[in-house]
Amino acid sequence: MSSRLKALVWLSSLLVIAGTIVLIVVSIVVTDDHPLSTLSPVGRQGRDIARLINPIFIVAGVVFFLVQGAVLALWWRYRVGGSDTGDGEYGYYEDDEFPEQIHGNDRLEIAWTIVPTILLAVISVFTLVGLFALDDVEASGEEMVVTVIGQQWWWEYQYHLDGDTTTPPDFVTANELVIPVGVDIPLEIKSRDVIHSFWVPKLNGKKDAVPGRSHDWVIQADKPGRYRGQCTEFCGLSHGLMKTVAVALTPAEFAQWKDNQMTLAALPAEGTDASEGWEIFNQQCASCHVVNGLTTAATRGGDTDSPPDTWDIYGEFNGDNAGTYTDQLVAGAAPNLTHLMTRGTFAGSWFDLYLDAGDRIPYLDLSTAGTLNRGELEAWVINAPERKPAKADDFRGMIAFTGLSPDDVDDVVAFLRTLD
Ligand code: CUA
Repeated sequence: MSSRLKALVWLSSLLVIAGTIVLIVVSIVVTDDHPLSTLSPVGRQGRDIARLINPIFIVAGVVFFLVQGAVLALWWRYRVGGSDTGDGEYGYYEDDEFPEQIHGNDRLEIAWTIVPTILLAVISVFTLVGLFALDDVEASGEEMVVTVIGQQWWWEYQYHLDGDTTTPPDFVTANELVIPVGVDIPLEIKSRDVIHSFWVPKLNGKKDAVPGRSHDWVIQADKPGRYRGQCTEFCGLSHGLMKTVAVALTPAEFAQWKDNQMTLAALPAEGTDASEGWEIFNQQCASCHVVNGLTTAATRGGDTDSPPDTWDIYGEFNGDNAGTYTDQLVAGAAPNLTHLMTRGTFAGSWFDLYLDAGDRIPYLDLSTAGTLNRGELEAWVINAPERKPAKADDFRGMIAFTGLSPDDVDDVVAFLRTLD
């Protein structure tokens, strides 16, 4: 081997070793406190998963270093040696020092077949026990059930306070799943279009949202907080921007939040900017966005006896329930905005609704104490597809309203601010 080649082999080996170590250290440091980390669980199910991952990771780490160590040791022990022959060539064996060539070693081969088999068998037992425990969603004593509906590219949450999901929900919200702390909340995971996957890593594992199916799941948080989530099944253009937040509140706070969510929006006072904004909203936005108390079937077409067309597109409440609503909670096309200002994020939780949101302002005080992220909200109203890729012409994501004047946009935002 030429000396240059030899140096190259050394250098690349060192780089691989150093890179591996850096990668392991960085990933541990970065992921431990990352909002989407499974390594610092805050919920019962998340903890069960971490309890499974951590020991397996340690075993896998030991195996990794044993195998890599053996590779390096063998490489060192049997590296091509020899001295400079004088013409710049290294490394050829004299006939009498050429290593013995071995083909097959029964003992070794049996050992490295049996040991991994035992390891994997033990791991699979614990994994199966863990999987069954995660799927056991019957244990919950909680009456409330939340139907979680994935849609390109946001999540809708329908709250059934009495647990009966065959009747219309008590209220509907989007992007942020608010739950009381400490209890298992049963979820029904569904989809309106393609396959999504619901995942709040600090609280529980992933559950697919599949069109035409309903998957039971459960979520629980040990302490109050806001826990980030991410759609984790590729679902098209803005899959990466389909996020969510699970918000855990104390039972008293949750009761307060829930009572507020069930109140209807009121028409803004005549002559105000908000009132002007409502007029624009009613013309431009209300065919997709519901505001309970304002965008009733009546305001959409005057027909209070049958649900609007949007009801049928996605078939959420067809059949027995069809035609029984005079006011609708679900448009099927876009988030219910009745209490938009109580949420910390919008547009599939891709944008913060408040500049200083974080965890510094108590969740229930966002609408009164938060500083509105006005620039982003206005940009969204004017040209949503530019802010988050969408196929707006195909009802996948919000369309652009570039025809609105700056005054119109101010008025619309003034109206949206009343939705608290
Ligand atoms: Cu929804 Cu990916």
